[in-house]
Amino acid sequence: MISKRLGVSAAALALLFSVSSHAADDDAVKRGEYLFHAADCVGCHTDVKNQGKPLAGGRALDTPFGVYYGPNITPDPQHGIGKWTEAQFVSALRTGLGPDGTRFYPVFPFTSFTWMTDEDLKAIYAYLKAQAPVAQPSKPHEVKFPFNIRFSLVGWRILFFNQGPLKTDPSKPADWNRGNYLVNAVAHCGECHTPRNSFGAMDQARAFSGVKNGPDGQSAPNITPHPDKGIGKWSIEEIMDLLESGQTPEMDFVGSGMAEVVKGTAKLTAEDRRAMAVYLKSLKPIGG
Ligand code: HEC
Ligand code: HEC
Repeated sequence: MISKRLGVSAAALALLFSVSSHAADDDAVKRGEYLFHAADCVGCHTDVKNQGKPLAGGRALDTPFGVYYGPNITPDPQHGIGKWTEAQFVSALRTGLGPDGTRFYPVFPFTSFTWMTDEDLKAIYAYLKAQAPVAQPSKPHEVKFPFNIRFSLVGWRILFFNQGPLKTDPSKPADWNRGNYLVNAVAHCGECHTPRNSFGAMDQARAFSGVKNGPDGQSAPNITPHPDKGIGKWSIEEIMDLLESGQTPEMDFVGSGMAEVVKGTAKLTAEDRRAMAVYLKSLKPIGG
């Protein structure tokens, strides 16, 4: 009798456990989706121009080193990342090395994603795994010598790659820390707004001071709080509005790559957009 009762309750417990672990999976997928939008993964991994399937790759990224194509990151086992384990995925974004040791080109912003937490990278993995697989091969990059040789990245990594995750700065308020994390790790704003040296690495001494001829020939303005050269005259609310609607205080709408970024930041909570604005306002103003 007792054992029978125990058996029943064990089954009930098992059921309860499986229900709650499914709920945890759903939570991870939802959190992953949120981060996925903030990080604009879709922007480089979907060939929107040619009506490409979501995340199936083929989007061309024109750079001074040649043309790169975002690869297929759907869960297709042959052409996508269907065979990657969670640990391999986390490691790829943390270290910029693929499961087979491939050194990724920094046009893939792993130099920013490395600052994300394990938990957030796992959530993005859960979200990607929940998407439809697409059996479409990735396009090979068309990169000039010597950049076409991944071995040339060995030196580059030694000189320019710092591995995360980001540490919280206990001397700063929580919203600043959240903003720092969103701007630098997830939304990788510096990948377009920070000038690069001749090796294509971000020049942190001039962080966020604007780029004349960035990816795809776009010019990304100075977003440091410099009153004339940057966005020093913008209020926190005006920066938040831009990240929500794409509208500047001069009633213009941002275009090109920034319009893509805003599609993602528009999906964030107002609290997160405020944190990003608070962080941007705290930067060192840089003129010129
Ligand atoms: C600025 C463009 C850009 C953004 C944004 C971007 N990627 Fe990529 N990604 C690339 C490029 C280009 C490559 C190919 C790098 C290489 O071949 O060295 C790549 C490679 C990858 C790979 C390796 C795929 C493979 O088959 O080896 C994964 C996984 C990946 N990206 C996931 C993501 C995720 C997840 C996000 C969002 C958090 C993201 N990417 C955002 C451009 C981007
Ligand atoms: C893919 C490249 C890219 C990324 C990533 C990017 N930006 Fe931009 N940003 C641009 C470009 C290009 C413009 C200019 C758009 C225009 O004038 O139409 C711009 C404009 C802006 C402006 C308006 C500045 C002005 O003076 O009008 C702000 C503010 C801004 N970006 C903030 C951000 C923030 C915050 C992030 C991170 C969430 C970010 N950007 C990520 C490319 C980018």
